[in-house]
Amino acid sequence: MTPKTPVAGTRAPAGKARRTQSLSSSLNLHDRLFSTSRDREVARAVDDGIERLEARLFAEVKFSDELADVAARYLLEAGGKRVRPILAMLTAQLGDGVTDEVIMAGASIELTHLASLYHDDVMDSAPVRRGVPTAQNVWGNSIAILVGDLLFARASKLLSILGERAIQLQADTFERLCLGQLRETIGPKDNENPIEHYLQVLSDKTGSLIAASAQMGVIFSNAPVEYEQPVIEFGEKIGVAFQLIDDVLDMSPPAEGDGKTQPTGKKAGTDVRAGVVTLPVLYLRKRAKRNAEAAALLKRIDAVATAKPGDKVDEAAVDAVIAELRAHPVTKATIDEAHGWARGAVDALAPLPDGTVKKTLTRFADTVVDRTN
Ligand code: IPE
Ligand code: IPE
Ligand code: MG
Ligand code: MG
Repeated sequence: MTPKTPVAGTRAPAGKARRTQSLSSSLNLHDRLFSTSRDREVARAVDDGIERLEARLFAEVKFSDELADVAARYLLEAGGKRVRPILAMLTAQLGDGVTDEVIMAGASIELTHLASLYHDDVMDSAPVRRGVPTAQNVWGNSIAILVGDLLFARASKLLSILGERAIQLQADTFERLCLGQLRETIGPKDNENPIEHYLQVLSDKTGSLIAASAQMGVIFSNAPVEYEQPVIEFGEKIGVAFQLIDDVLDMSPPAEGDGKTQPTGKKAGTDVRAGVVTLPVLYLRKRAKRNAEAAALLKRIDAVATAKPGDKVDEAAVDAVIAELRAHPVTKATIDEAHGWARGAVDALAPLPDGTVKKTLTRFADTVVDRTN
């Protein structure tokens, strides 16, 4: 059968693959503020945990089929911040630390996240991810979707080693993630408030997996059970903040030589171009009811989003619309909203003992809202 989409063979394209700036280094766990011996011990445990995680991840994405092998390793090799497993390693400090089970749980979460990126890029028609062309642009939609499925299979295998509790937690989380993506796709119902609907989408599609990472760190380090709820709430709220900043970063200008790729490794304005509605656009829509200047900008944004494949697109005009949205007060309002969720996340940590772990999770929250990639 002739494939409907182009298949580029088994060789991954030579791209500008590179690790994005590692989250662990931007957490600055080794700086002077983290100067007690316990702080240094945690910093070393996370560094060591990341090395073990990387080895595990690469071991889990090997396939005997040559195309599956190349395409599954493709995005892993291209980079990624490993936010979710790092969070699991941090909450594991409430118990026995980064046990082998914590590494396995972190790897299963990261594989689930990775798989969801292969699928998300098809749904969002994204051209670039982690600084390289998206999988569907290299191998076509069918292969990109199937590779995502293969990665879900490998995540499930790891979870089966961890046992029923992990399988159940992952199943519930993944159900929420998919429902979040589904509700984003279909949009709010007539009787739903679009902003409340949107924030619920973020909790489901992004907060759920980050909360599960935090919870797995507690479970698989044998930490006291009473720490589970606070870290779940922390993860869920910081997940919403993380996604709100992701929405803002979508509009940041290109920073690399090709004039298109951002420090995030994505193409500037992917959401606006694909018609994915994000909080700045929702705020603009609200203002547009009483403000002619907001209404005019919204009209131009909607025109970009409704362009059909094959339409001649004036890229410079699209870039100008994105730059205007970035400079508009609705973007600042979105950043403020993200900071509010991050504060809520830190407040949720109140039941945890004071000390290194709380301090580190607070730093994690600050890093999420101040990130540039
Ligand atoms: C991207 O997640 C998808 C979102 C939920 C915002 P990340 O920003 O964690 O992506 P990588 O793993 O670092 O590439
Ligand atoms: C991705 O959301 C969320 C999941 C994959 C579950 P986005 O579509 O906003 O993320 P990016 O901006 O493409 O990374
Ligand atoms: Mg996307
Ligand atoms: Mg998406």
